[in-house]
Amino acid sequence: MYTLPPIIFYPELKSTQDKAWEFHEKGFNRVVIIAGKQVMGRGRYGRTWFSPKGGLWFSYLRTINIESEMLDLVSLACGISVVFTLNNLNLNALIKWPNDIIVNDKKIAGILIGTKFSAEKITAIVIGIGLNLNINISEFPDDIRKQATTVFNELKHYVDEIKVLSSILKNIDTFLDNINITKSLIHENAQKLNYLKNKSVKILLSDGRMIEDVVEDIDENGKLKTVNGLTLSMHDVLHLY
Ligand code: BTN
Repeated sequence: MYTLPPIIFYPELKSTQDKAWEFHEKGFNRVVIIAGKQVMGRGRYGRTWFSPKGGLWFSYLRTINIESEMLDLVSLACGISVVFTLNNLNLNALIKWPNDIIVNDKKIAGILIGTKFSAEKITAIVIGIGLNLNINISEFPDDIRKQATTVFNELKHYVDEIKVLSSILKNIDTFLDNINITKSLIHENAQKLNYLKNKSVKILLSDGRMIEDVVEDIDENGKLKTVNGLTLSMHDVLHLY
């Protein structure tokens, strides 16, 4: 039987990520922090994350005991978990590696993962998920509106936020509780849902180099493989266009 983690709601926060880590400091090993809105929501690559009322903005803190090389797979598992939940709402979604969720060529959700290490192992993670849920796209600033979509915009009706949250959490825990067993399922789904497959991309690498290549596939460790023979982990990449 699946038991949801404790869920704590705040009407407004700077960022659910920081609050989740505060709970880690207090000794919690499993908690979800959800905010009605965030005033300093963070995205990957140091970007801000537009987080008005109506969206599903949460961070899931859980302890874990995995090698750091598993992080790409963990990240994909979280993306797949969101896709499965969207599929249940009759939305077709894909994953833009490592974990942007795309519907009809537009971003509907993003994932930011923070980690705590101890002796080469990841001991705790905070999975921050931002899903543009019950928001009208007209609320988004012009620059984001061109590249983003929302569940409301796709379905033309509101959906129950708590049902969506519960479904995502259950999916994540199913993958992460037994990652050595679910590894191949994560890989299989990541390949199937790969939005970037055969697409030309520009990649800004962590060492400052900018490369142009074509995405070939995702390997069994969740790394991105390119036609020119590169195998990239999410930490090798600063930006992917
Ligand atoms: C991205 O695609 O760049 C990742 C976006 C992650 C946004 C979520 S919203 C909940 C959590 N709190 C944050 O400040 N960021 C994440």
